[in-house]
Amino acid sequence: MDKLRIWGGCALEGEVPISGAKNSALPLLAACLLTEEPVTLHRIPQVRDIRTMQELLRLTGAEVHVDGAGAVRVCAARIARPEAPYELVKTMRASSLVLGPLAARTGKARVSLPGGCAIGARPVNLHIAALEQLGARVGQSHGYIEAAAPGGLRGALIHFDRITVTGTEDIMMAAALARGETVIENAAREPEVADLAELLNKMGARIEGAGTSTIRIQGVERLGGATHTIIPDRIEAGTFAIAAAITGGDLTLTGCIPEHLNALIVKLRQAGVEVTVPAEGSLRVRRAGALRAVDVTTEEYPGFATDLQAQFMALMTQADGIALITETIFENRFMHALELNRMGANIRVEGRQAIVAGPRTLTGAQVIASDLRASASLVLAGLVARGETVVDRVYHLDRGYERIEQKLVQAGARIRRES
Ligand code: EPU
Repeated sequence: MDKLRIWGGCALEGEVPISGAKNSALPLLAACLLTEEPVTLHRIPQVRDIRTMQELLRLTGAEVHVDGAGAVRVCAARIARPEAPYELVKTMRASSLVLGPLAARTGKARVSLPGGCAIGARPVNLHIAALEQLGARVGQSHGYIEAAAPGGLRGALIHFDRITVTGTEDIMMAAALARGETVIENAAREPEVADLAELLNKMGARIEGAGTSTIRIQGVERLGGATHTIIPDRIEAGTFAIAAAITGGDLTLTGCIPEHLNALIVKLRQAGVEVTVPAEGSLRVRRAGALRAVDVTTEEYPGFATDLQAQFMALMTQADGIALITETIFENRFMHALELNRMGANIRVEGRQAIVAGPRTLTGAQVIASDLRASASLVLAGLVARGETVVDRVYHLDRGYERIEQKLVQAGARIRRES
């Protein structure tokens, strides 16, 4: 199992190119199952979750061709096995994104139940209830969700009890091939949902309102091939923005969409970090003075992303004062707090709140990451800690960050991967 060894104390400087969004690429790859024609997706990040999704598509019978420059061409001319096995779902919960497309395209789907993970229970009850409203019969046996819609799906009014990102995406894909109109209320407004709708519309779907809380979908009989470029990864960009801030550096992030990061930008500025947009598609983040503590509460987009909470917590260990961090999306997403404390932070967790008292001098230690974003927060802490930090279980980081240590080294960090 790989480890990252980090020698802290270097301010990061220079340019960092931002990769395509993992959480956009995953649903867009699943959407390729909706048509027998080829779909070409550009700017697919080369990360482990994407390789898992590609493997899943291949298992269904789709052909997946990956070229070196980040383009992936999928042709699901025939779906031989409309199934997502446990072996893949357990390593990547987003596998449940194939449930809607398989049910809509083939009239049946068998997808393993994901079970819990390090950040919470991760249920899929909302996906299932919505699919039932679209006319599918959904049952459960042997740890699998089994959906059947032999006569096809039909449009319906769906009102999600709570906002779900992949739930919205799953049902939007299913409804694209359902008979009649579907309205999704209380839909997720994440940019990744809008990106998916853009691809689906290029494939011939009729979707309006994606990116708002009400999405209208007029079902069509078939979808065709298309070519699309994935949006930049706002969570990767946010992680590097925090890297600049925590090290007292000066980074320009290129190829990003700054407005997708508005909630973070406001918090960084309140904390004393200078954030500017030097040109379209780039963001400059630098810090010369001291950091101030600011409170954050995670929310659905456009609120402060739960996927940046752990990284922001690392930053707050260096800020002057008490920062209150409230996690409202996942019930168990504070595992990094204990590891940060092992490095010298002063964080108290009380239920869904973490109280971070700073500034504290962090010292390098051997730490273990529990999930993808927790790993990123430990790397950030390592960049500013005295001495050597070893982050174990780097496979979590490899699920979602493309060439992270290379990008950090280019910006001046001292970091090495060890097998
Ligand atoms: N929920 C339910 N029932 C459901 C679905 C969700 O109760 O059927 C609950 C969840 O337990 C959670 C909340 O609703 O408490 C929101 O979950 P959501 O469904 O929005 O999360 P997700 O779609 O499984 C995506 C991202 C996550 C990100 C969350 C929240 C992808 C592939 N994953 O997950 O990304 O944290 O939205 O923004 O898009 C990551 O990249 O590290 C990551 C975990």
